[in-house]
Amino acid sequence: MTAREALAEAERRLAAAGVETPRVDAEWLVAHLLGTTRSGLAARLDDEVRGLEPLLERREAREPLAYVLGEWGFRRLTLKTDARALVPRPETETLVERALALAEGIENPRILDVGVGSGAIALALKDERPDAQVTGVDVSPDALALARENAERLGLEVDLRQVDGASVSAEGWHVVAANPPYVESPADIQHELRWEPDVALLGSGEHERLARAAKARFIVFEVGDGQAGGVAAALERLGCSDVVITADLTGRDRVVEGRLP
Ligand SMILES: C[S@@+](CC[C@H](N)C(=O)[O-])C[C@H]1O[C@@H](n2cnc3c(N)ncnc32)[C@H](O)[C@@H]1O
Repeated sequence: MTAREALAEAERRLAAAGVETPRVDAEWLVAHLLGTTRSGLAARLDDEVRGLEPLLERREAREPLAYVLGEWGFRRLTLKTDARALVPRPETETLVERALALAEGIENPRILDVGVGSGAIALALKDERPDAQVTGVDVSPDALALARENAERLGLEVDLRQVDGASVSAEGWHVVAANPPYVESPADIQHELRWEPDVALLGSGEHERLARAAKARFIVFEVGDGQAGGVAAALERLGCSDVVITADLTGRDRVVEGRLP
């Protein structure tokens, strides 16, 4: 079938499957099969497309697009993505931006990423602050294996360890950055989230637990929608100063930072 036909078929079936952005997803799938970008598709509409069916079936089952494609963009990097770790989200790019701002002016900053997952935060930080000593930790051996593969593919040197975040955050850092699990109820794990590891999603009170344990100059967290005020208040109770909430690109308050006492 031609790319034009493939796009129409994929869009129709993804819409019927309840995918929120059926046209965009159809374009990603067809562009991937043609080895081009979504913007490059316009010039390839009459090209023949092979291999659509298995990818389309996976996406119809609501498997995240990033897992189906096997890679996903984050900041300046393209990361390998699969069910071993959370799909890197655009809002997490805001966390990286704030961590970079906090580390500005510190020579060879020691930065810890708690819950490294695919490696997104740790690797983006190393990529954008090559002089930083970046450590990423996770309790999940699967996530660490994926982070190691990404580090190797990208040629970025980060220290990756399997350890609980709270214990290592007490080691002493310039910046502790974390996107901990913050979905409070299993009932909120629906659709695409069902494909992602529970250990990456389900958690309650992890921000405060980490902040209590951390020995660092700064701490910066990603939080769930509606959690920013509570986490900011917790940081203030713990004696943090310069507590700042930053909105993500969609205007939702998603990143909370503070200077530890
Ligand atoms: C929300 S995911 C974030 C993944 C990645 N940093 C990102 O932003 O895409 C949370 C990660 O924390 C890890 N995790 C959960 N509990 C942890 C703990 N106590 N210590 C360290 N990592 C933990 C999970 O395995 C998961 O990879």
